[in-house]
Amino acid sequence: MIDMMDAPVLIIGGAGFIGSNLAARFAAQGYRVRIYDSLSRPGVEQNLAWLQMQHGDRIEAEIADVRDRVRLRGAVAGARAVFHFAAQVATTTSLLEPRHDFEVNAWGTLEVLEALRVQATPPPLVFASTNKVYGSLQDVPMMIEGSRWRPTSAALAATGIDERRGLAFRTPQGCSKGAADQYVLDYAHSFGLPATVLRMSCIYGPRQLGTEDQGWVAHFLICALRDQEITIYGDGRQVRDVLFVDDLIDALDRAWTHIDAIRGRAFNIGGGPGNSISLVELVDLISLLRGSSPDIAMEGWRAGDQRYYVSDPSAFTAATGWRPRISPRAGVEALYGWLLEQRRRIAGSRPLTSAARVPRA
Ligand SMILES: NC(=O)c1ccc[n+]([C@@H]2O[C@H](COP(=O)([O-])OP(=O)(O)OC[C@H]3O[C@@H](n4cnc5c(N)ncnc54)[C@H](O)[C@@H]3O)[C@@H](O)[C@H]2O)c1
Repeated sequence: MIDMMDAPVLIIGGAGFIGSNLAARFAAQGYRVRIYDSLSRPGVEQNLAWLQMQHGDRIEAEIADVRDRVRLRGAVAGARAVFHFAAQVATTTSLLEPRHDFEVNAWGTLEVLEALRVQATPPPLVFASTNKVYGSLQDVPMMIEGSRWRPTSAALAATGIDERRGLAFRTPQGCSKGAADQYVLDYAHSFGLPATVLRMSCIYGPRQLGTEDQGWVAHFLICALRDQEITIYGDGRQVRDVLFVDDLIDALDRAWTHIDAIRGRAFNIGGGPGNSISLVELVDLISLLRGSSPDIAMEGWRAGDQRYYVSDPSAFTAATGWRPRISPRAGVEALYGWLLEQRRRIAGSRPLTSAARVPRA
């Protein structure tokens, strides 16, 4: 048992929202986890401290940049699996600093691939890509139905967007993540790396440091808790399929254990049509949870924003058996509860507790 668990799982970007949730899962299962992170996202050091407090020496931390070739190669050596999440994650920042965005997302991923290519037996790699690789879907006829946009095609609305959709990189961040996505697939084909790409939609849950630029579900909840105005860009009817982080962690776990079936392929991962919600619908849900409506300001559309993006995750389900289980209602309630708990903790009235968990449907 000890020997089997000895080689660490490497999580690049492991102090972030998704990385820290995955690290917690693996550490709880008895694996050693090596976190490789520059801590460049403000606040993620708290996630790392929480992991170390909960799991002690099962968590090993290397504070370094994904572009640091020497440190990265050292971290990859001997890993049993590699999950790559380190990224410049905000479209807005990519428009202000496209060179930095390219360096971290595209070049950084190439460094990860090169570090794996020189291993005698490269371990599985799971790469976090994004729905942004499909662009703004301007060519898909859309209509407004009540509080949300939806495709005019009832068939498309029923299934969501699948992997046959053509790539259309928009915004520097779409280009850098899209390039990384394609490099990972190519290294699987050209060099035989056991690598897979998950094109993720909107993920939300505990440990998410949501801001106006990324992580809108958490951001809206944080604003509501602080009695701050929520700014909605566009008409608020934009729709996303949201996926609670516990469901994503199940998918990541399956991606690793099913790597032989899915290597060299990209999959759309999200809550799917059954777990879609528009911005104004989320505001309604928040109003219910908090007992009053938050203040809202409306602004113009942001560059590259999709009016509708809902994944069709059925290819991943067929390959691995994975299915999302947590509804937006249950997940948003769980995140709201966790944020309340954090606020009490910061106010000094409660000890640090673990992330909220919700019952499975
Ligand atoms: N959260 C979502 O809804 C979502 C959706 C689609 C795709 N993704 C992708 O999933 C991944 C993880 O997202 P997240 O929400 O956990 O983001 P996050 O910002 O919470 O985590 C990213 C982590 O990477 C680290 N990092 C950034 N630049 C680095 C660098 N140069 N070197 C080393 N570490 C660096 C940050 O410090 C942070 O801890 C990202 O690649 C993101 O593009 C996320």
